Formats: sequence, C-alpha cells, structure tokens
Amino acid sequence: MSNSVTLANAKLTGVGAYLPQKIVTNDELATRIDTSDEWIRTRTGIRQRHLASEEETSVFMAKKAALAALDYAQLKPEDIDGIIVATSTPDQVFPSVAVRVQAELGMTQGFGFDLSAACSGFIFALSTANNFIKARQAERILVIGVEVFSRLLDWSDRTTCVLFGDGAGAVILEANAKKGEGLLSTKLHSDGRYGDILYVDGAAGNSDSKAKLKMNGREVFRHAVTHLADAVEEALSEQGLTGADIHWLVPHQANQRIIDGVARKLQLDANQVVVTVDRHANTSAASIPLALSEAVKDGRIKKGDLILMEALGGGLTWGSALLRF
Ligand code: UT7
Repeated sequence: MSNSVTLANAKLTGVGAYLPQKIVTNDELATRIDTSDEWIRTRTGIRQRHLASEEETSVFMAKKAALAALDYAQLKPEDIDGIIVATSTPDQVFPSVAVRVQAELGMTQGFGFDLSAACSGFIFALSTANNFIKARQAERILVIGVEVFSRLLDWSDRTTCVLFGDGAGAVILEANAKKGEGLLSTKLHSDGRYGDILYVDGAAGNSDSKAKLKMNGREVFRHAVTHLADAVEEALSEQGLTGADIHWLVPHQANQRIIDGVARKLQLDANQVVVTVDRHANTSAASIPLALSEAVKDGRIKKGDLILMEALGGGLTWGSALLRF
C-alpha cells in the first residue's frame, strides 16, 4: 500500500546498546555439545556469543541500552513520550518490558508497550514508532530491541543452541525530519502459514520456563533468501532508489551467508555491510539496533548516509526499513 498523504518522517537521533558480560566461544560450546568451531563458523559466520547472567534480564539490558541512547541524543527520560520494546523474551508476560523500563528510567509521562514479531521485531517497532510520530501522537519514542534467547534455547539441541546470543539495542526517533531525511520507508510482512518452521513451544522468557525454540533451519534459510531480497527491493523502488544509492546495509544478524546473499543482490561491497553476527550471534530483535549502534558510534555511519535494514523471523515475519541518517 502506498501513502496517499505525505507526513513528516521521524528522524533517528540516538543509539545505544548493551551486551552481557559473559562471552562464550564456539570452542567452549564444543566441550559441552557435539559441535565444532569449524561447523559453526563455516555454516553461520558465528565465532562467539554473549550470554546473560541471572541479573542480566530483558528489563536490565533494555534499560542500559535506553540510557546509552538517551546519552547519545543528549536527552533526558522526561523528554520521551513513548517506549516500544521489540522482544520475544520479556521477563514477565506483563507488566511489559517497556513499562518496567519506563519506571526504571523514572518516567511518569508517556506510554510503553511490547511488540512481538520475533527476529523482525525491531523493524516492526521502528515502523510503529514512525507512524505514531507521523500521526503526531508522539514527538519522541525510544525503540528498543532486547532478547535473552539463551533462556529459550534447548541446550541439548545443537541445531539451534549454537546460533543465538543475548543483548539489547535502542534508538530514539524524533519528529520533524527534513524532507528526504529520517525513516523514508518501512515495509512489513507476515505469513502465518509458516509458523511451524520457527517457533517456541510455549511462552515467557524467564529461566524457569519450559518453552523452547524449535527451528527447521533449512526451510527458514530458503524463505530468508527470497523474502529479504523482495523486501529490500520493495523499499528501494518505492523511493526510486537502487542498491547503488545505499551507503550501508544493516541486516538482521542470523547467518553470514544470508547477509552475503542480500548484499550481493544489492551489489554492495563487503565493507558497506555492518556485520556483528561473528561476535554477537543471532540476538533476534536486538541484532539490528546492536549493529546500528556499533557502526554509528565507531564513526562508520555518518550524517546523511542512506541505510537499509532488513530482517526475517518466526511467524514468519519479515520487513525492511530505509533510513537517511
Ligand atoms: O533469525 C531467525 C531466522 N533464522 C535464520 O535465518 C536461520 C536460517 N538457517 C540457517 O542459518 C541455517 O539453515 C543453519 C545455520 C541453521 C543450518 O545450516 P545448514 O547449512 O542449513 O545445515 P543443515 O541444517 O542442512 O545441517 C547440515 C548438517 C546436518 O547433518 P546431516 O543430516 O547432513 O548428517 C546436521 O545434523 O549439520 C549437522 N548439524 C551440526 N553439526 C555440527 C546441525 N547443527 C550442527 C552443529 N554442529 N551445531
């Protein structure tokens, strides 16, 4: 669907991240389960992952990332009108991570809610926040992606447990981007018919939960390759742009081979792709804001750069977002 009315986009003014202290390498995993550093690296690009301690809950990590984003934007919690958290691993069914972060930040104004779209959650949350801002229902929104997937993993299933990590990333979206700046386009999709190729057989992300992640990796891979190529094409063509206009691809970090496939399709150089999967593994809804935060803070992404983000996850859900920084 195309927009019939043009409203001012939201601009991105803050980034922040938090990673758990504990790093676990592939070799360490190989001492516990039947796998090897060689298998994990060649199939996925992953070398290590950060895994949360008991204290490093979703609320704890989301708050840390939020504070870092506020600091980057030179804003205070009282400047924020809303918090949207993308997560599949809230500490509780409710209160949401968002309202608990609101309380932790000392905010009594505004609203907060969580949004569930698995690994595509951050793209869905960005799009939601952008539309709240465009509709003038909020001026500034904290958008957070946070996951403790380590609590959802079956640590005896080598086909899934080696793939994921924990962490949080946050951005701040603000009203009144200039024409041609900010979130130029977001595209969201889902297809519930494929719910059984990547799912959790229960709910809640606390460590007592019996719910565990199940995945048919080969099938998910197949869908990722086609849907992500279509989603990036859709976002670009709506704006009359091509791969040649993009400065940076900031993809969901599930597998280096999927990332390379999208980059090839867009004819991007490897040095235009922000990659964290080697160090973070797949942090689901947190992976894009973690990567974005890293590349903004280390100076790779500069003011005026055109950034393409994309993700696919359980649902199936998938989407893309085009941002002029
Ligand atoms: O973020 C949400 C979206 N998720 C994704 O995008 C993930 C998409 N899928 C993938 O990234 C890949 O399909 C995987 C990395 C999950 C798997 O890679 P693959 O090349 O598709 O491997 P496969 O599933 O075809 O497995 C190949 C072999 C199997 O052995 P056999 O049946 O050929 O004898 C597996 O049993 O590798 C075996 N295997 C392992 N071996 C060592 C599976 N996991 C492991 C492991 N260590 N951890």
